[in-house]
Amino acid sequence: MKLDPRRCGFATRAIHLGHDPADRPEDATRAITVPIYQTSTYEQPGLVDDPPYEYARVQNPTRAALERNVAGLEGGRSGHAFASGMAAIQALLSVLSPGEEVVVSRDVYGGTNRYFNQVLRRFGVGIRWVDTSRVEEVEAAVAAGERVRMVYVETPSNPLMEITDLAAVAEIAHRARALLVVDNTFMTPYFQRPLELGADAVVHSTTKFLNGHSDSLGGVAITAGSIDPAILAALPGLYDGDLAAHLAFMQKSAGGVLAPFECFLVLRGLRTLAVRMEQHEDNGQRLAAYLARRMEEGSSIDRLLYPGLDGHPGHAIQRRQAGGAFGAMISFDLGSREAARRFLEALEVFTLAESLGGVESLACLPASMTHASVPAAMRRELGISDSLIRLSVGLECYEDLEADVEQALERASAA
Ligand SMILES: Cc1ncc(COP(=O)(O)O)c(C=O)c1O
Repeated sequence: MKLDPRRCGFATRAIHLGHDPADRPEDATRAITVPIYQTSTYEQPGLVDDPPYEYARVQNPTRAALERNVAGLEGGRSGHAFASGMAAIQALLSVLSPGEEVVVSRDVYGGTNRYFNQVLRRFGVGIRWVDTSRVEEVEAAVAAGERVRMVYVETPSNPLMEITDLAAVAEIAHRARALLVVDNTFMTPYFQRPLELGADAVVHSTTKFLNGHSDSLGGVAITAGSIDPAILAALPGLYDGDLAAHLAFMQKSAGGVLAPFECFLVLRGLRTLAVRMEQHEDNGQRLAAYLARRMEEGSSIDRLLYPGLDGHPGHAIQRRQAGGAFGAMISFDLGSREAARRFLEALEVFTLAESLGGVESLACLPASMTHASVPAAMRRELGISDSLIRLSVGLECYEDLEADVEQALERASAA
């Protein structure tokens, strides 16, 4: 493509950013797709200082193409790819030092909860769990902590679909000289770009919608174009006083980088992100509307959590900050674990599995699957009951998805 993709719309950028041969001087063939540089090291031209490529943990051209692509899609300055979403989260949280604190959404992916509670805490970082959908709770937690240096948000949250007002929370965090980090896995930059709303960094599990085909595990961390120098100066653990430099340093020093083949897969998945997200959204909205109708008609659905529903407390904020989109993740409660088991085991198009965001529809029981490592008392307090079901709505024909849920609901209520 001859035009600079940075001047184009989202789908054009998703297809071209990072791929275009003009951006890849290392590839003399001008291959239309980014080659997989399956190498661990590079021949050095001589004993020069700072060769462009030295060792694959530090630089890899396939990874660099992916990093340029995701940074561009999120509107960020830098992207850094890691071996999993958790590895990317870990790299971002490594800016915190013992004695510092992080305010975090109480409802997050179970692995994120486990990392904060069972790993980060052991390194002496204080953790304040709050309902970040209540801006006043964020404000109180930031004010109560002596050394809050980060606010960490998932919105929509996993699995309760709580919505956080990112612009409001960015202002609170920045007033207190804390970074705002947002896990944007559920919405993707196609619908929601937290950096434009004031966040300082975005993290993704690329395992989900970005790769989109359930065939690779990965993560990326993207930094904002400009971050208040006073916030960075308040972080003594930050490498070289710069967040992007810190992430590169963590790739090199801790080594949890994404392998070249996985980078290739994510790059390929990203090329269809725009069309996939449109269809995920359409199927998600239609299925949520169907479930809402079933609930009104008195089916056994107790609670339906989807930000696209009028009665959802975060509906207006979500509409405003995510371009009118609500996503393809839906949670609902069937009232008893036995009914949930019957529903999940009756599904014929949806697959009972952890994960989300792939072309195929998945269903899971967070309490015993994705969120099993959240302490039981915390799950109870949050409302992640033993009968809460989470759906990731895929790209199959909508009619097949609705028919599947309908027959499984019937089997669930036939005691
Ligand atoms: C919202 C969210 N963030 C992060 C992660 C962790 O990503 P990974 O499984 O790629 O380590 C997950 C995994 O399910 C997730 O759902």
